[in-house]
Amino acid sequence: MLSVEDNKLLTETGPNTLMGKLLRRYWIPALLSDELPEPDCPPVRVKLLGEKLIAFRDSNNKVGLLDELCPHRKASLFFGRNEEGGLRCVYHGWKFDTCGKCVDMPSEPPESSFKNKVTIKSYPCRDVGGIIWTYMGPEDEMPELPILEWTLVPKSHRYFSRRIQENNYFQAIEGGIDSSHISFLHRNIQRSKTDAQKALANDRSPKFEVSKTDYGLQIGAKRKAAEETVYWRITQFLMPWYTMIPPFGPTRGGHAWVPMDDEHCWHWSFSWNPLEPLKEEELAEMRSGNDLHASLIPGTFRTVQNKDNDYQIDWELQASGQAFSGIRGIGMQDAAVQESAGSITDRSLEKLGTSDAAIIVARRVMIHAAKGLENGETPPGLDTSKQRVRAASVMLPEGIPFQEGAKELMELKPQDYLAAENE
Ligand code: FES
Ligand SMILES: [Fe+2]
Repeated sequence: MLSVEDNKLLTETGPNTLMGKLLRRYWIPALLSDELPEPDCPPVRVKLLGEKLIAFRDSNNKVGLLDELCPHRKASLFFGRNEEGGLRCVYHGWKFDTCGKCVDMPSEPPESSFKNKVTIKSYPCRDVGGIIWTYMGPEDEMPELPILEWTLVPKSHRYFSRRIQENNYFQAIEGGIDSSHISFLHRNIQRSKTDAQKALANDRSPKFEVSKTDYGLQIGAKRKAAEETVYWRITQFLMPWYTMIPPFGPTRGGHAWVPMDDEHCWHWSFSWNPLEPLKEEELAEMRSGNDLHASLIPGTFRTVQNKDNDYQIDWELQASGQAFSGIRGIGMQDAAVQESAGSITDRSLEKLGTSDAAIIVARRVMIHAAKGLENGETPPGLDTSKQRVRAASVMLPEGIPFQEGAKELMELKPQDYLAAENE
């Protein structure tokens, strides 16, 4: 459990909060590059860390992220005209470039210099690896972009999606690092075919070992697989909101959970095959909202299965045991339980057990980092040379620490994706 004060610290991410200040020191995945497909295309609304923003791609292919409201009389720039190197408010024509400078003010006399005094809040953006990233922290503290495997592979090897989840970001992170729920929430009896799946089904109380690292946490969950053999699932948690999922096959998965505001987050799902293009069948599954992804109500980022329709739970499917939860889709299974805990769960009331070890450590790391920043410490996990890591899923002889037995598997080496880069 957490005290009410620590729960507030962990979950509140507005500009003047301790956690909000910490999160603003990292690059933020803001939107998919494809959402702004070409220069001068329509702008896109993005809410991040409680701030309403508008993203646009200007005539020179430069991406900008501006305050949603025009500084003149506060009309939304969502309706703006994206033309000739800037976004023009449709109310009185004031126009802003990607840096937030007012470059045209046709409602004032030509001799007026007022436009030189007006700016709009803007955040720097980078368009890298299929994602538009932004940095909302102090200018002189801007770190390098993170090195994450899914951003290093060619477009044909990856599929990313984002959707709104209706709960605080940290509740979703807790689901992402909680390896023990796989044996329950995501259990599907038809799937228990491989040794790994059998271990997941048969040993439902994994032993956790959590190591702190320079980038975040290595979270090992150990299950009995056979006489003297154990199955390790090692999830990587990278500060401040990324997880890498232990793989079941060549296509790998990861997530990010970015606060939209304190009661909603952007749930990012990343699927990628480091060495080969994704197969058509895989892509079709992902696009249809299966696997880690979810189908969205057209024109929105809200999922078709949502809390208003009880995630379309199928009680017969649940009773049959074919899907433990009766809810279709891994992502929707996670959303159902995480959202059902309330938009900001009251952690002072929970009862944690040994299988919650990773969650306890992750909370501590985040709270410690937020308080440390306030005391002048550098936030952890910003050194990109330490970020070349992978999740792992491996059978090991009993008694071998995962840090040793899975060492090679957890390192991201150039040959893991080099063939892809050279394509
Ligand atoms: S409100 Fe935007 S130009 Fe007037
Ligand atoms: Fe899950």
